[in-house]
Amino acid sequence: MTTRHFLTLCDMDSVELKALLDRAIALKAIHARGEHYEPFRNRVLGMIFEKSSTRTRVSFEAGMAQMGGHALFLSPRDTQLGRGEPIEDSAKVLSRMVDIIMLRTFEHSKIERFAAHSRVPVINALTDDFHPCQLLADMMTYQEHRGSIQGRRVAWIGDGNNMCNSYINAAERFDFELVIACPEGFEPLPSLLEKHKGRVSIVRTPQEAAKAADLIVTDVWASMGQEDEQAKRQAAFSNFQVSPELMDLASAKALFMHCLPAHRGEEISVDMLDDSRSVVWDEAENRLHAQKALMEKLLLG
Ligand code: CP
Ligand code: NVA
Repeated sequence: MTTRHFLTLCDMDSVELKALLDRAIALKAIHARGEHYEPFRNRVLGMIFEKSSTRTRVSFEAGMAQMGGHALFLSPRDTQLGRGEPIEDSAKVLSRMVDIIMLRTFEHSKIERFAAHSRVPVINALTDDFHPCQLLADMMTYQEHRGSIQGRRVAWIGDGNNMCNSYINAAERFDFELVIACPEGFEPLPSLLEKHKGRVSIVRTPQEAAKAADLIVTDVWASMGQEDEQAKRQAAFSNFQVSPELMDLASAKALFMHCLPAHRGEEISVDMLDDSRSVVWDEAENRLHAQKALMEKLLLG
């Protein structure tokens, strides 16, 4: 049997993704009841972080512990990866020792190369181009609060970054309309836009995207690795802030999401996270439950 990886949402079909969300909701309930469910006894997750993380690290590590397994945190600072050992060699060696691997890195091609040489499932914990684990949590959170997202209108406000690209994949897999408001020069991957032009559109003002939206999502203006562009980006995105006033243009039952960490006063107004339409804390928590369901599927089928 070939090893199954999760590098983008496209690695699973719609039926599998929907089942995964249902399972995540069930695992959340099991956890809330205080029941023990430990199918990962003696299993080890290797976690390689080439960029910083709070949510991703803690949710994977806690999730693995709750399911009876063990997680190993590996950073390039203390491993041979940081001293130039080729990614292919690292993948071959690590995958002979652990049962599943999650990787947060820069170029998406790097995780593809890693996965191609891994004997065990590889999970994308964020690359420059995609952040599929966050989308599992976002889709789960929408479902918990509002039911199916199918046929809904989602507004992405801000940078056409890794999160935005993953929202395009989600629009196709979960069957919703996506309107992206971004300044010129900050669009998502052109190949993805072209492929999904039937359901994904670009507009140039947040107001246009927010109109009648069922979900409004944003993210930082400068992602990890773009710190040098902060000033330029701050100028380009100054009109792209999500605030309660912008939310008022959306549908009456609209929700607000942000993968976090957030910059109050930049992509969101200081009061946005405290607005009654914001579900960001549930969204963050759901990383834990969604990834437990993901690891269960990849390890146990
Ligand atoms: N949303 C998210 O991936 O957060 P971290 O960078 O803290 O992992
Ligand atoms: N777009 C952000 C997401 C962080 C979780 C980044 O890549 O830094």
